[in-house]
Amino acid sequence: MSAVLDRLAAHRLVPVVVVDDAAHAHALGAALVAGGLPVAEVTFRTTAAADAIRVLRDRGDVLVGAGTVVTPAQVDAAVAAGASYVVSPGTSRAVVERCAEHDVVALPGAVTATEVQAALELGVTTVKFFPAAASGGAAAIAALAAPFADVRFVPTGGVGPGNLGEYLALPSVAAVGGSWMVPRDLVGTGDVDGLRALVADAVALATTLRP
Ligand code: 3PG
Repeated sequence: MSAVLDRLAAHRLVPVVVVDDAAHAHALGAALVAGGLPVAEVTFRTTAAADAIRVLRDRGDVLVGAGTVVTPAQVDAAVAAGASYVVSPGTSRAVVERCAEHDVVALPGAVTATEVQAALELGVTTVKFFPAAASGGAAAIAALAAPFADVRFVPTGGVGPGNLGEYLALPSVAAVGGSWMVPRDLVGTGDVDGLRALVADAVALATTLRP
């Protein structure tokens, strides 16, 4: 794994966040750091995404990546804003190749054997398993890990405190993504203390489940 993927794996969790206003990114960053999880996947689902990434990157203490990246142009925007990794819901040759041109980590989605093989052909060995719960959950990852022993998965989508342990128990799981510790509405309030508490709870739970 790359150094960036190693760092994501060390944190065990990847907060997936929708930022509606880049002005809220300061509070988000402060809450993530104070809560002990200085990581963010900022999704390109709002026009504020690139500016939010820039704010978090400029802090210097948050490992920030871009999520929901589906076009090479979005890769360019994410990298220009300072994203250290680029996450996609599926596997796109164009997106992965643009990431390689920028020398930035690509984390594309794959939930079937065919999709995993497609990712491998592009040189990707860590994939986002999305949408995790709707795609068979931990049992599906365990089944895929048999033929793909060198592949690492980042399950995301439908994960929360109730089922986090099922995923973290799998050696093939590098980290688990989710939005439960950074709910969009709360991010929009700029409530640092509220966010910090949710983040800290998630970190404590993950540490209990996989020290
Ligand atoms: C993602 O883009 O990874 C998902 O929207 C996050 O899924 P969740 O909201 O179910 O955690």
